[in-house]
Amino acid sequence: GSDDDFFGAHQAGITTPVQDHMHFAAFDMMARTDRADLISLLQDWSYAASRMTRGLEVSATGAVGGSPEAPPDDTGEALGLGANGLTITFGFGPTLFDSDGVDRYGIGAQRPASLTKLPAFLGDDLDPESSGGDLCIQACADDPQVAVHAIRNLSRIAFGRAKIRWSQMGFGRTSRTTSAQQTPRNLFGYKDGTANILADDREALAEHVWVAASDSPAWMAGGSYLVARKIAMLIETWDRVRLSEQDAIVGRDKGAGAPLSGGDEFTEPDLQAVDAAGAPVIPARSHVRLAHPDMNGGVRLLRRGYNFVDGNNDLGRLDAGLFFLSYQRSPEQFVTIQRALSTDAMNEYVRHVGSGLWAVPPGAAPGSYVGAGLFG
Ligand code: HEM
Repeated sequence: GSDDDFFGAHQAGITTPVQDHMHFAAFDMMARTDRADLISLLQDWSYAASRMTRGLEVSATGAVGGSPEAPPDDTGEALGLGANGLTITFGFGPTLFDSDGVDRYGIGAQRPASLTKLPAFLGDDLDPESSGGDLCIQACADDPQVAVHAIRNLSRIAFGRAKIRWSQMGFGRTSRTTSAQQTPRNLFGYKDGTANILADDREALAEHVWVAASDSPAWMAGGSYLVARKIAMLIETWDRVRLSEQDAIVGRDKGAGAPLSGGDEFTEPDLQAVDAAGAPVIPARSHVRLAHPDMNGGVRLLRRGYNFVDGNNDLGRLDAGLFFLSYQRSPEQFVTIQRALSTDAMNEYVRHVGSGLWAVPPGAAPGSYVGAGLFG
């Protein structure tokens, strides 16, 4: 099948055209669970996910087809809504392979060398309650209720084996993964995803996103690594910055999204261009210059983030930001760019408050389950 099907070479939800809504959840395994529990959990999750992504209830008896004397298998709030583009993507965190020095699931030797906690970055303000997790599930759909239903039912299926550690709802994709999609905007008001890796760029996907068969470990071939960063945006402060300064911080113009060196949205930024006074037209500390592959040894990411607004804090400010999600062939790609962004002029207006890294295994073969290669 295509990359949008639940079964296939790659998990869906990576190159799939970015849907409008997301519910992301990180899980921890429960105490005293063993290898058999983990395998059965992944099998049960895969079965339910393969049904929900086709618009079906989690089981054949579903929401109303079972015994009236028992709680229904499916919670029912997605009845009649259809699949709505739902994708469900599973990942394994570093702590699944090594929980405080204990290899509870007999998979320690299979841990990818690069799957460790991300290093600390300048300006990190991470809350452990929105960071990490033994497992993660990214559910994306064009209807928020469909995404919430997926996470709700998968956590219910996990009962006794894993429980939610933290979760995040997102709306308004901040990226595009196909050229047919219009570039959306983030909460700073800028087009986001212009220079993203697109689903039809097979060469870039092979080089920057999919783990290759020649990479180690073998069970990750066709998979990818997922970085999540919950980035709070200091909206009220940003909204007092004058437009020309906002443009200088981003390195692109707010209306069209064109690089400050000229052209339209899809013109390549000219990082060499200087003004009459000899100053770079795309400023030295602008986000686009610092994140650009030419400044980072050619490194690229596939970004798939979402806006979030979680009400307001007690000062009356919006609790809002960007739930940054990026997929890459190696976590080192994210580390390289995030380090380059240490001098980003945008840093004055953002705070990284949550973080996680997960190994996203390849897609399941029909009839099998996500992560089966780990137990082979
Ligand atoms: C580009 C916004 C965080 C990596 C951009 C663009 C905007 C933007 C407006 C230009 C349009 C585009 O090509 O997508 C933001 C905001 C952030 C944020 C508001 C935080 C709230 C990050 C982080 C990373 C990152 C944490 C990675 C560590 C990139 C990359 C590009 C980019 C790689 C493309 C650069 C290029 O090739 O031209 N971002 N970004 N961004 N951003 Fe961010």
